[in-house]
Amino acid sequence: MAALLCTVGCNPTVIEPTRPDQYTDGLIQIPEGWDAPEFPEDNAFTDVRWALGKDLFFDARLSVDGSVSCATCHLPSKAFSAPEPVTPGALGALGTRNAATLTNAAYQPHFMSEGGVPTLEMQVLVPLQEPSEMGHNIVTACEELAPDYAVQSQAAYGRDLDPFVLTRALATFQRSLLSGSSPWDRWQQGELAISEAVQHGAELFGSEGLACDRCHTPPLFTDHGFANNGLDAVSTDPGRWVLTGDPADSGAFKVPTLRNIGFTAPYMHDGRFQDLDEVLEHYASGGAGHAHQDSGLVPFVLTSEEKSDLMAFLHALNDTAFVNDARWYP
Ligand code: HEC
Ligand code: HEC
Repeated sequence: MAALLCTVGCNPTVIEPTRPDQYTDGLIQIPEGWDAPEFPEDNAFTDVRWALGKDLFFDARLSVDGSVSCATCHLPSKAFSAPEPVTPGALGALGTRNAATLTNAAYQPHFMSEGGVPTLEMQVLVPLQEPSEMGHNIVTACEELAPDYAVQSQAAYGRDLDPFVLTRALATFQRSLLSGSSPWDRWQQGELAISEAVQHGAELFGSEGLACDRCHTPPLFTDHGFANNGLDAVSTDPGRWVLTGDPADSGAFKVPTLRNIGFTAPYMHDGRFQDLDEVLEHYASGGAGHAHQDSGLVPFVLTSEEKSDLMAFLHALNDTAFVNDARWYP
């Protein structure tokens, strides 16, 4: 892995940076009032890089048997997640995790449930080489595809398709997946009157008893931290412990965004909950009582009206324009 990271990360090619005001064709649209996402110095946003990344995202030849593309597990219509608890990868191999949404990935400081991958460029290596995902070898995959992508790749990065280009182009496409025009956003911006149910649900979400916003902090609905949210008394998946070696991190996972939550079922790292009712039941129980469970999780009781208000609020985080956006479809 270390040697590979060097192949993709230590290349001397210098590329002129593109400033946000030079983006064209609306391929990247920054939600109102948000900071532009940061682009690495050697991977500034350009339209040709984006277009190359999009083509690669949908190209099943990146998997060893040509059966799955990134989009198999990250479907635009599901806010770039998948509807199965665990989606089979190349050769039908099954992993253990639910495909994460890529909503607003550009703003994330770390990737995967353990948080062990620092950039979107490096993250590409994980699915490509992971036996339960694409099961391929990044060098071989690039060699096979290079002739077909020669023109695009030269236009985007001034070189043929190789791990440098592949990782950067895919990262560029993913950095454009910005979602910030849900009903909740339009309400916050004063553009939309919202129902009392949603307003009440928003209050409950931030109320002392539930304090969902402590971890799922607006506006991205994540604090980018890690927590053990009490799914199991004894964890089957060690989570962040694997990365840090600190037993206090056992059963701790990255706090996911709740944006587009209505599109990203099933829920949690292993997709164990089919719907949001099951999620709320879990939190209302106060958790399974893991030794390292977050100490702030306490049982609560909601009336059926409160529950439906909280649900209405969660659904107000669904950005329908985002999932239907023609930019994401081949
Ligand atoms: C077989 C299914 C599968 C395929 C194919 C797949 N992924 Fe994923 N992806 C997942 C799963 C499962 C996770 C969650 C892993 C975890 O939580 O640790 C994930 C996580 C990610 C993440 C991290 C999200 C986060 O919030 O931490 C990114 C980025 C990503 N995938 C991009 C890609 C790209 C790019 C491709 C194609 C090169 C791809 N994936 C192919 C299943 C897949
Ligand atoms: C202590 C931090 C913390 C608090 C408080 C918290 N959560 Fe979570 N939440 C998490 C973590 C961590 C996960 C991911 C667990 C996993 O991947 O298995 C999560 C996952 C979720 C998911 C599933 C997201 C997905 O994409 O799979 C939903 C929905 C959710 N929380 C809603 C809530 C609601 C509603 C509340 C308040 C009742 C709440 N959370 C309070 C940390 C927290």
